[in-house]
Amino acid sequence: MSSDPRLPQSHIDRVDAICRSTAIIPVLVIERLEHAVPLAKALVDGGLDVLEITLRTDCAVDAIKRIREQLPDVTVGAGTVLSVDQYRICEELGVDFVVTPGTTPALFEHGTASSVPLLPGVATVSEVVTGWEYGYRRFKFFPAEANGGAKALKSFGGPLPEALFCPTGGVTVDNAADYLALPNVMCIGGSWMAPKSLIDQEDWAGITRLTQEATQRYPR
Ligand code: 3PG
Repeated sequence: MSSDPRLPQSHIDRVDAICRSTAIIPVLVIERLEHAVPLAKALVDGGLDVLEITLRTDCAVDAIKRIREQLPDVTVGAGTVLSVDQYRICEELGVDFVVTPGTTPALFEHGTASSVPLLPGVATVSEVVTGWEYGYRRFKFFPAEANGGAKALKSFGGPLPEALFCPTGGVTVDNAADYLALPNVMCIGGSWMAPKSLIDQEDWAGITRLTQEATQRYPR
């Protein structure tokens, strides 16, 4: 397939730099603003400093602002971006990258001209090929386990060896190895090291322990 000039190579390079700097991107749901910084610190203390903060909660935008102000060395992605309007908010926030769970043509198009690179969510080969037409070569595979897991991604590599993925959705410390062994997987994403129960209890040491367990098993 020929490459499409609409997506600048610099976007692919920026996504590569982020996704190659870590084996694991925690996917975070922050329900209380005061949890944002201690949660991010707990993950950093455990060895992870690329975070996806999902726009699933009312305080998510303020949580991103706080983390950027107080932990400027953390690489912050905004996740669960579902519309171009939300993408624009992320540009104003100055996040490092945007992640979508699934991707409309409007989102693919917006990402090509944005100041913030997009890691577009896909679940099927057809969706990868749609992104390909805009120039995308890096994707989030979501929900990974429900869509065939590592076996499916291995099969994606046949027709589309240049497409590289960050699988998320059902990825755990135990099945991460199956994904990370694939040549078309850059890194994996998941929420297991920051479960709601520990966040609700403000058990930051527990989150650091789960994060350390993950980074020791899967160092970059
Ligand atoms: C995501 O948006 O990537 C998922 O919610 C993360 O999936 P998980 O909670 O199964 O790890």
